[in-house]
Amino acid sequence: MTSSLRIRIEESTDRAAIRAIHAAAFGGNAEADLVDRLRADGDLTLSLVACASDDVVGHIAFSPLALADCPSVKACALAPVAVLPPFQNRGIGAALIEDALQRLADADMDLVLVLGEPDYYGDFSFRVEAAEGLKTPYDGPYLQALPLSENGRTASGPVVYARAFAELT
Ligand SMILES: CC(C)(COP(=O)(O)OP(=O)(O)OC[C@H]1O[C@@H](n2cnc3c(N)ncnc32)[C@H](O)[C@@H]1OP(=O)(O)O)[C@@H](O)C(=O)NCCC(=O)NCCS
Repeated sequence: MTSSLRIRIEESTDRAAIRAIHAAAFGGNAEADLVDRLRADGDLTLSLVACASDDVVGHIAFSPLALADCPSVKACALAPVAVLPPFQNRGIGAALIEDALQRLADADMDLVLVLGEPDYYGDFSFRVEAAEGLKTPYDGPYLQALPLSENGRTASGPVVYARAFAELT
């Protein structure tokens, strides 16, 4: 990992850098727009940046999920996560995910969902099988869940994502 890496909550002065990270990493504005919409809607459960020296080089966002059949389950979605291309493959993405999951566990989150490569997210204990009882707009081989509590382990039924996901292009 980059030796001087620091992970912290996003600040308002980070917004342009966060947009630039997603645009460069994904090669388009859809994810940057998603983050801005989540923020505007008050739907950023957790938003962390990774700083190498004074530069913001990575970002991860989480937003709330509503489980109609299990209203006591505190759940959120990991999306998006990105690292500036020249800084990729140095452990910064992993550091962001691990730091965020620890903060969510400390905040008594029950369940985290992610849509992405099982090979990557499996390293952080996300499992496709753990999402099988849930019904989301993203069901399939890339949807994975990480229960953080017994309440999260037994969660099932329909899942509603934050409004900004419906506006994803
Ligand atoms: C995915 C991403 C955030 C990972 O950040 P990172 O700092 O490069 O990742 P790390 O250094 O922690 O981990 C690197 C490892 O992840 C693997 N990896 C990276 N992206 C991957 C992907 N999309 N699918 C599978 N494996 C992936 C690398 O091959 C590498 O594997 P290795 O350690 O076995 O060599 C970053 O590559 C990125 O911004 N990618 C473009 C945006 C994106 O696809 N975001 C995720 C959407 S689900």
